[in-house]
Amino acid sequence: MDAKIIDGREFAAAVRGKVKDHVTRLASEHGIVPGLAVVLVGEDPASQVYVRSKGKATVEAGMKSVEHRLAADTSERELLALVDQLNNDSSIHGILVQLPLPEHLKEDLVVNAIDPAKDVDGFHISNVGLLGTGRKSMVPCTPLGCLMMLRDHHESLSGLEAVIIGRSNIVGRPMAQLLIGDSCTVTVAHSRTRDLPEVVRRADVVVAAVGRPEMVQGNWVKPGATVIDVGINRVDAPERGEGKTRLVGDVDFERALQVAGAITPVPGGVGPMTIACLLANTLTACCRSNGVPEPDGLTV
Ligand code: GUN
Repeated sequence: MDAKIIDGREFAAAVRGKVKDHVTRLASEHGIVPGLAVVLVGEDPASQVYVRSKGKATVEAGMKSVEHRLAADTSERELLALVDQLNNDSSIHGILVQLPLPEHLKEDLVVNAIDPAKDVDGFHISNVGLLGTGRKSMVPCTPLGCLMMLRDHHESLSGLEAVIIGRSNIVGRPMAQLLIGDSCTVTVAHSRTRDLPEVVRRADVVVAAVGRPEMVQGNWVKPGATVIDVGINRVDAPERGEGKTRLVGDVDFERALQVAGAITPVPGGVGPMTIACLLANTLTACCRSNGVPEPDGLTV
């Protein structure tokens, strides 16, 4: 029997609906409107698309959306001055500086200049440290989305073998911390891992986040395992016509589907959850800064 396909679009719509309901209540009961500021430096086309969709989703959730688009040659001093201004703006509860930044700007320096309480990406070193020590923090959006889907599918994650493929700061490492927090036995595999297929074969939960198209083979997957595919890779699709492309994940979906218990598709799996979790994080940051209760189930 084929695996259950975890519908990320449907799940994300539910999260966004929950955020929107809570935003409506915040406005009526406390007169508070959460605000998200997104900063884009330069004209990277992919980043422009992301920033536009983040702004649109923010407005749809009933929040205030502010976009700052800066020229590619913006100086570090100018960018830090903007971050400082947003840190001190009480109508802004979340700040996101879109990455990658142009080469002359130091990402670490800029990210760590954001007030950790407004760091809706969860990239600030204070949030990384809080998450790594099992404390309340802002949690990076993509791993948070993966955890929400895993918690929804499994009654409990406690004691499960989880294998994460990829050790990036944005996905692999925070995902490991989150799964440790839910009492999984966690292995983080990466490019130097010996016998990756054998490592993956023991996993009840696989999170693939390496950015290599269809690298995880169907016969690596343990029967019944839950497979979360974070990869979004564009590959040539000559079968669709000359010059055509399609999106694939890090997992060979068609083959894994026949073995796994549940699997996220690409597109339509983890991707939509990332923006939903950005909205959830903005709401969480707003509730925390105003000392009002956080909604259940939107953070860890
Ligand atoms: N660029 C691609 N994904 C992200 C993200 O989640 N946050 C930020 N700040 N930049 C990105």
